[in-house]
Formats: sequence, C-alpha cells, structure tokens
Amino acid sequence: MKVAIIGTGYVGLTTGVTLAFLGHDVTCLDVDAAKIAQLNQGISPIYEPHLDELMAASRSRLNFTTSAKDALSQAEVIFIAVGTPSLADGNPNLAYLKSAAQSVGEHIQSPYVVIVNKSTVPIGSGNWVESLVRDAFRAKNENSKSQFVVASNPEFLREGSALMDMLFADRVVVGSDDEKAVSVMRKLYQPLIEQTFTPPSFLPRPENFKMVNFLSSDLQSAELIKYAANAFLALKISFINEISELSEKVGADITHVAKGIGLDSRIGNKFLQAGLGWGGSCFGKDTAALISTGKEYGLPMVITQAAKEVNTRQRIRMVEILASELKILKGRKIGILGLAFKPFTDDLRDAPALDVAQKLIDRGAKVVGFDPIAMSRAKKEWADSEIQFADSAEAVFEEADAVVLVTEWPEFLDLDFSKLSKDMRNALMLDGRNHLDVAVLKKAGMKVITLGRSS
Ligand code: UDX
Repeated sequence: MKVAIIGTGYVGLTTGVTLAFLGHDVTCLDVDAAKIAQLNQGISPIYEPHLDELMAASRSRLNFTTSAKDALSQAEVIFIAVGTPSLADGNPNLAYLKSAAQSVGEHIQSPYVVIVNKSTVPIGSGNWVESLVRDAFRAKNENSKSQFVVASNPEFLREGSALMDMLFADRVVVGSDDEKAVSVMRKLYQPLIEQTFTPPSFLPRPENFKMVNFLSSDLQSAELIKYAANAFLALKISFINEISELSEKVGADITHVAKGIGLDSRIGNKFLQAGLGWGGSCFGKDTAALISTGKEYGLPMVITQAAKEVNTRQRIRMVEILASELKILKGRKIGILGLAFKPFTDDLRDAPALDVAQKLIDRGAKVVGFDPIAMSRAKKEWADSEIQFADSAEAVFEEADAVVLVTEWPEFLDLDFSKLSKDMRNALMLDGRNHLDVAVLKKAGMKVITLGRSS
C-alpha cells in the first residue's frame, strides 16, 4: 500500500521504517529540511537501536521529502505523527497537528484515504482533525474526488526498544466508526498481525511469539486507550515507589516486595522497578493531559494526580537524602551517572537527571554529569544550566562528595569501584535505580544508599 507519514520524530520514523520493512511504499514528510537531507543519506536523526539498519534494509521502499504534494497526493493511508508537546496548562499544543491536517486536506487525491492520528491527541481530536481536513479539502482541493476517513491508531512504543515493540507488539489498536477504514488498517498491518514477515537478524522474533492482537473500537475509545495505558503504567511505577519509601522505613527490601507482588499474574512483574521514577516524553505529558481532560468534564482524576505527585517527590527525595548525608550541600561536588531519561536512548525530555542536578545546583552544589550516549545532546539542550559535563564515567567520581546513579546504563556495572572510591573525597554512592551490586560497592569501600532497601 502507499503510505505517507507526517512527522519524522520517534513515532513517525519508527512507524515509517517498519511499514516499509513490511513491504509498503512509504514516504515520510517533514518540514525540517536538514532532517530530511540527513534521512536521505540513510542517517537517523535520533538514537534508536537498529533504526539505521532497518532503514537500510527497507531503503528501496522508503522516501523522505519536504514536499507535502509528493508525499500525500498518492497516499492511501496517511499517518499524522507530529509532536504534541505540553503547554503550560497541561494541555497538548496542537499547532503542528492542525497544520498537518490542513495540509492533508489540501493534497489528497487517492479515491479512498484513511487519515490516521498516530500522535497522542486529546480525546475528541479525531473529529477535530476530520473537520480541519474537510475545510481545507473544500477550500483548496475542490477537484479531487477523494473520500477520506479519520482513524486513531495509538502507538505504544518504548524508546530504546521501539522497533521490537512495533514488530512484536502486544496489540494494534484502531479506532474508527467506519468499517472500511478498519479493514484498510487491518490489511496494512496484516504481515505484522499474522507475523508472516521474516525478521531481520538484529531484531529476532521472541520465542513462541505467534500473533499480534488486533483491536478495533470507536474513535474515542482508541484515543482514551492510549492515555489510560500510559497513566496506568505511570501509576504502577509511582505505586511501587510509594511502597518503596515505606519499605525503607519498615526495613523491607523493595526488590523482594516487587518480585513477590509481580508473581501474581493479575499484577504482573513489569513496571515495578522502584527508583527515581518516570521521565520521558510520554508519561508526564499524558498524565497531565488526562488530568486536564478530567477537569474539562468536572472530574478530578485523583489517582493520576497522586501518581504525578509521588513521581515529583522521588526527585526531591534524592536531594533530601544527599542533604541529610552530607549536611551541607554548598560547595559539594556531586557526580551524576546517566543523563538520558532511561537507558538506550539519548532523549533528555523530562529527564530526572536535570531536575535532580538543578535542585542540587540551587542549593549551592557543583554537579558533574556523564552519559554514555546523551552527552552531545545534553551539552546542547542543557547549555543554560550550570551542570558540568565529564568526559567519562570515571571522571564523575574525581573528588566527588557523592555520586548519584540516575540512569541504569549497563556499562556502569563494569566500573572499577575499588579504584573510583579512592578518587572520591567522600565515598558515598546513591543508587537511584537499584541497579548496582551493593556488595561490590561496599567491598570497594563505599557507603551505599538505595531506594526502598535498607542497605
Ligand atoms: C512509554 C510507554 O512505555 C510507551 O508504551 C508509550 O508509547 C510511550 O511512553 P517510554 O517513555 O519510551 O515509553 O519509556 P518507558 O520504558 O515506558 O519508561 C518510562 C519511564 O519510566 C522511564 O523514565 C523509566 O526509567 C521509568 N520506569 C519504567 C521506572 O521508573 N520503573 C519501571 O519499572 C519502568
């Protein structure tokens, strides 16, 4: 099928590359000419494991352009995957979505076009996009005989494992009130649903993985599924973090508690990793949007609100723990291991590292950070902060009064802690992700503080 993707961010690019890999003719459209030039050279503008390789494997069916006409006029399915960043009031900024919808209306020519909202949009946006497309279609594209329908197809990709999440998804959700649109989307995803494709060697099919669930619903339900899924995951993390604080107080070990409750198949063992809490582009934005939608309807979303508060508290707690250990934060050197909001990505959006660093800087500490992948982005995006950047993980320890592990990169496990503890002014390690081996650190002569375990 002929597919167009508007927006080459995480969601758009991953979707486009995967659909091309599955055999569709895909054109990705973006207003950013530099990004399109880079993509045309086969270079991904984002760090996502194996994306470059999958792009190379799908190159013959993949085009990148800044021309809306080239991308949209022949397309049978058009994905809108533009950014919807949060505004100050928690509502998403829909300016990019609006201009994408108008552009679609101006350029579609195929007899039947499914316009798919892939961006996380407020509930009811499907109808809004449909009216924007219709107005633009009538005003500028009057000779076109196209029929079009708007559908919702939320994404559930995690950065860092986006391609695996897409190829071997738990489910594909399509929301539309039009049966034909649902069958077009089913056909589009057929190779994925039935797992008839041969996976590339670098993205092997998980053992016993047979089929992807396909769920069709009305438009609003699909839109709400996205928010409810992200809010539920966020609150699962906040729940374990709340229990983790209690766990410290009563002398329990949160890793055992998480294992013990996670073995109950009704609860499940995922997203129960206690630590500094969630960051990234989705959970903060989507929980804020859910709360704001609730407010619009006079409904206080108390559980979602509480999940947010617990998450904010985790970042504050880190600083409180340091203050209680070091007594004085002014003039202290605090090292931060890991800057990206989670491992295997260079994404810094709502990264706990910046929040923790800024709170420490505000209290007079000097903060030196390092990340295996996100350094160049951090230097650019955090240029206004006073955070300093080390050249290596080891350099973070030099003369430090404490080091905080914020992001659980696997390479941090291989550090020579015996040597590093001697480089520190005060050998104190705060493991914000329960990632390191406490016994190894203690043997290296460090004092170790973990979250949720009385170490
Ligand atoms: C998330 C959703 O998982 C995905 O389905 C959605 O489409 C986009 O948002 P992402 O933000 O890429 O994906 O990362 P995810 O792996 O979900 O982690 C989010 C945050 O939660 C990270 O900061 C991570 O460190 C934290 N986290 C995750 C925990 O603190 N504990 C856990 O047990 C799991």
